[in-house]
Amino acid sequence: MLKKVSVTDVVLGMYIHELCGSWMDHPFWKAGFTLHTLDELHSLQNSAITEVWIDTAKGLDLPAGVQSEELEPVIERAQTILQEADVAERAEPIVSMAEEVQRAFKICERSKDAVFSMFSEVRMGHAIEMHGVAQVVDEMAQSILRHPSALLSLVRLKNADEYTYMHSVAVSALMIALARQLQLSAEQVQQAGVAGLLHDVGKMMIDNSILNKPGRLSDAEFAKMRLHPVYGAKLLLDSGSAVSAEVYDVCLHHHEKYDGSGYPKKLKGQEISLFARMAAICDVYDAITSDRPYKKGWGPAESLQRMAQWQGHFDPLLFQAFVRTMGIYPVGSLVRLNSGRLAVVIEQNEQTLLKPKVKVFFSSKAKMPIEQEVLDLACSQCTDSIIAREPLEDWEFRNLDALWLE
Ligand SMILES: [Fe+2]
Ligand SMILES: [Fe+2]
Repeated sequence: MLKKVSVTDVVLGMYIHELCGSWMDHPFWKAGFTLHTLDELHSLQNSAITEVWIDTAKGLDLPAGVQSEELEPVIERAQTILQEADVAERAEPIVSMAEEVQRAFKICERSKDAVFSMFSEVRMGHAIEMHGVAQVVDEMAQSILRHPSALLSLVRLKNADEYTYMHSVAVSALMIALARQLQLSAEQVQQAGVAGLLHDVGKMMIDNSILNKPGRLSDAEFAKMRLHPVYGAKLLLDSGSAVSAEVYDVCLHHHEKYDGSGYPKKLKGQEISLFARMAAICDVYDAITSDRPYKKGWGPAESLQRMAQWQGHFDPLLFQAFVRTMGIYPVGSLVRLNSGRLAVVIEQNEQTLLKPKVKVFFSSKAKMPIEQEVLDLACSQCTDSIIAREPLEDWEFRNLDALWLE
């Protein structure tokens, strides 16, 4: 049986089914394992992970009387959190998804190049040329205004070698969209975008051998990696870059967690600035939905569901706004319909996030591809509906994203 337990209650001999948190928060990166050594136990208890799932069929159980949670109520609670985000109608996109995807491709490329040169400048101690940064952010904001899903879906797709730069572009796009969802002023939306672009600039001070290591990081390497927020803030100061206090703050505090278990300062709740709380959500979402050499990314809908289960990580109200921004089933999510067909979400629906437009392509019953067809699940004639998110690792589909990019 799976039980969610606090890391402080974990003992040797337990089988760790899953760690509750992003793989950026721990040096383990393997799926399931039995805790055999004190070293592993200490690593776990010293990591940013606060809760884990243990499997009592494969390892030791908790002693009687120690608190734990079972799978079903946790999933139900996550589902409620996600569904509560489905309020208010959304603004209609101005142009079609296909049209904006074409433009957003080019914006991604330009933004990535801009991040690359910005990071290089700062690394050499030069001040960032803020006019260029503002232009990049403005282009992204315009794209999101024309059709939010195009850029937000494209930034998830990245090659391993460009990860750090594309991740910065992605966090920037997500920050812009979230700031707009929160109805912040145009100036604040702009600052949110700049903060996203620069949040990981401190990674420029981390050795490439650690930054791009294809395997599991050692505890020492992991500890170095966790210095990047402090390095980043120092780089911004030393280079004399004219960034706002908000941007500096995001750089330093985007790994803080709402419950005070983050780093570098273990800030809690409202002690963490609004922008840093927003960045924490955007940063984790992009990291866990992206493929890395050592780990395949989780699907977008699956990622949101997992994030909803991690208690204490994120500001709950901001997380709800984030779900409203992305959709409960973001574009690119693999879902199972009640007809038994598998589909990929290709677009959100303005009226309800529970019934997006999808493209069916596979029969889970016959286990074979079927003729592709677009369904608008919100259409009154449509009898099909989503019954589950499908974990990507259960299927060996290649390039599912082609289905919404077509
Ligand atoms: Fe970071
Ligand atoms: Fe990041």
